[in-house]
Amino acid sequence: MMVQMRSLFDEPAKAPAILTFEEAQRQAQTCTKCRLHQSRTHVVFGEGSTRSPVIFIGEGPGEVEDATGRPFVGPAGQKLTEILESVGIARESVYICNMVKCRPPGNRVPQKDEIEACWPYLEAQIKHIKPKIIVALGNVPAQFFLKTTEGITTLRGRFFPWRDGIEIYCMFHPSYLLRNPSREPGSPKYLTWQDIKKLKERLDGLL
Ligand code: URA
Repeated sequence: MMVQMRSLFDEPAKAPAILTFEEAQRQAQTCTKCRLHQSRTHVVFGEGSTRSPVIFIGEGPGEVEDATGRPFVGPAGQKLTEILESVGIARESVYICNMVKCRPPGNRVPQKDEIEACWPYLEAQIKHIKPKIIVALGNVPAQFFLKTTEGITTLRGRFFPWRDGIEIYCMFHPSYLLRNPSREPGSPKYLTWQDIKKLKERLDGLL
């Protein structure tokens, strides 16, 4: 009798299945895939409308977000809400989340391996929401999605095709505006006002 021997290498490498939104939400709550879980108080998965054509993505939760389990509710979050409202976008009408779901200690920038460990959750959010536009807030999400080392100053205010018909739109992180309060032409605040108006026009054009 012929015995069919299968080598380990016969099996095509399968990409891990993409989690459903609900699976991602559930698994993230008890996730220990990276060191950030050790110091977290709450997992900050994301919030807002899952029917939104746009997702705003920040770096990672800060102190208030870690304490409450909600994204962008501290000072940077208040600034983001203000920016959205300045063009008539209600915060609840869009989806808001972060590259990593647990707070990096001392608000440091999330590291590459932490972002990679958390990617399945963000990927599930994107697959479920199917946005037309992802707004990358600051260098961390902008450089991750665009696979570039260009800085946010060069990337901001521009739409870049990504995948599945989704465009990446880069803006300054709201905490950068808190550190640079000038409204002079050319200032981060002034440029962000231009950028949010441009985004609003694009969103209006989608309807
Ligand atoms: N900064 C971020 O990048 N995300 C938050 O949720 C809060 C502050």
